[in-house]
Amino acid sequence: MVEDDVCADQSVWDACGLPDPINRGFLFLDDDLIHLTRCLELASKGRGHVSPNPRVGAVLLSSAGVVVAEGYHRCYGEVHAEVVAMTSCTRDKSQGGTLFINLEPCCYTGHTPPCTDAIVSAGIKRVVISTSDPNPKVNGKGIKFLREQGILVSIGTNSKEAEYFNRGYFNYILRQRSWCAAKIALSIDGKMANKSGLSKWITGNEARRAAHAMRADHDGIMVGRKTVQLDNPELTVRMTDGPNPVRIVLTATGKIPTNSAIASTTSMVRTIMVVDEKSVIDKDLSNIELLRLPCNEHGEIDPRLILQELPGYGVLSVLIEGGAGVLSSFMNADLLDEISIGTAPTIIGEGISPMEHFAPTSWAQRPKYSLKSYNKAGSDLITTYIREDRTFSQD
Ligand SMILES: NC(=O)c1ccc[n+]([C@@H]2O[C@H](COP(=O)([O-])OP(=O)(O)OC[C@H]3O[C@@H](n4cnc5c(N)ncnc54)[C@H](OP(=O)(O)O)[C@@H]3O)[C@@H](O)[C@H]2O)c1
Repeated sequence: MVEDDVCADQSVWDACGLPDPINRGFLFLDDDLIHLTRCLELASKGRGHVSPNPRVGAVLLSSAGVVVAEGYHRCYGEVHAEVVAMTSCTRDKSQGGTLFINLEPCCYTGHTPPCTDAIVSAGIKRVVISTSDPNPKVNGKGIKFLREQGILVSIGTNSKEAEYFNRGYFNYILRQRSWCAAKIALSIDGKMANKSGLSKWITGNEARRAAHAMRADHDGIMVGRKTVQLDNPELTVRMTDGPNPVRIVLTATGKIPTNSAIASTTSMVRTIMVVDEKSVIDKDLSNIELLRLPCNEHGEIDPRLILQELPGYGVLSVLIEGGAGVLSSFMNADLLDEISIGTAPTIIGEGISPMEHFAPTSWAQRPKYSLKSYNKAGSDLITTYIREDRTFSQD
C-alpha cells in the first residue's frame, strides 16, 4: 500500500491557496472526510453491476470549494467514476478544482483510457484518495504520475473503511479468491435450528431487513442443498432496496427439488449450482448454471476451489446463509473471512449448531476474529466479526 505523501513544492500549495501541510503539520482539510464519505455513498450505487471492477464514486469541487459534479462507476467496462464527474461539468468548473475518489485513479488503458490523463486535462489541482489500488497495474503508479504533474495528492484519511467497502475487489486482487462472509441467525444458546430442522424465523423483522441489506452488499449468496430442501428460501432482496445477488447452491449430488422457490425463479434471478463434476442433473433444472468441480473421497468439493472459481462468474464476495454443513465445510478450510451473527432473545435447546461439523486441530489453533460492529435490531443484536489476518493494509 502507498503511504500518504505530499507535494513538497511550496509554490504548488501557494497556487492552490492551501497551507503547506508539512510546515503546518497536517495533510487533510476539514471537509475531506465528508466528501470521501459521499464518494462511498455514490460508489454503492454500482452494487451488483461493476464486479469484477471495484465500486468507485467521485466528487468534484471547484477552485472555490463548491461541489460542481459527482459521479460513480455504473457498470463493468463503462466509464470510471472520476471521468463521469469531470465530463459532467465544463472545464472552467474543474480548472483548479479538487477531486475526491475512494480509490486511486487508474493510469493504464483497459476498457477505458487512463483516468490520470483525464485528471490532468481537466486542470485539477488537488486529488484526495481514500486508498491506493492494489492492482499491480496501478498500486501507487497513478498517485506518482499525478504528483509528477504537480498535482497535490492526499491519501488515506478513511482507508480502512474504503478497503472494507471494496473487500471483494481487494481480496480478489491480493488473494485471487472471493471474499467469504457468513450470516447466521442464532438463539441465545447458539442454535441455528431445532432438532427437527425448524429455523423460520429465529430473528425478528428488523434483523431480517438488515440481513437483506447484507445480501444486496454481496455479489453472491450461498446455501447448502439441505437448506433449500428444509427452508425453501427464495434468497432475494425484498425487505430493502438493492440488487439481487447471484444465488449459489452447494450440492455435490446436484439434487435440489425442482419445485423449490429457487428452482422456480431462475428466469428472474441468476442461479448457479456448485456440483460434483460427475453428477447427473435433472433436466428441469436446466436454467441453472453449473459450476462442476471434483469431489474428494468424502463427497465434498474443496471450498477454496469454489472461491477461486467464483470471480470468473463475476462473484467477488459471497454471503453464506447456511446451513451447518456448508458453514462447517468453509470453516474447516479457514475461509470464513467475516461472520455476522443475529442473536435473538430465545432459547432453542436441543438443535443444530452452526459449526457442529468443525473441529480445530488444537485449542491454540482455534480461529480468532476481531469484533467489527454491533447493532441492536428490534429485540435482536447483530454482531459482525472479521478473521484477524484478513485485513488488507498490512499485506
Ligand atoms: N438460523 C440460520 O441462520 C439458518 C440458515 C440456514 C439454514 N438453517 C438451518 O440449517 C439446517 C440445514 O443445515 P444442514 O447442515 O443440515 O445442511 P446444509 O448445510 O444446508 O446443506 C448440506 C448439504 O450441502 C452440500 N454441501 C455442503 N458442503 C459441501 C461441500 N464442501 N461440497 C459439496 N457439497 C456440499 C451437500 O449437499 P449434497 O448432499 O446434495 O451433496 C450437503 O448435504 C436447516 O435446519 C435450516 O433450517 C439455519
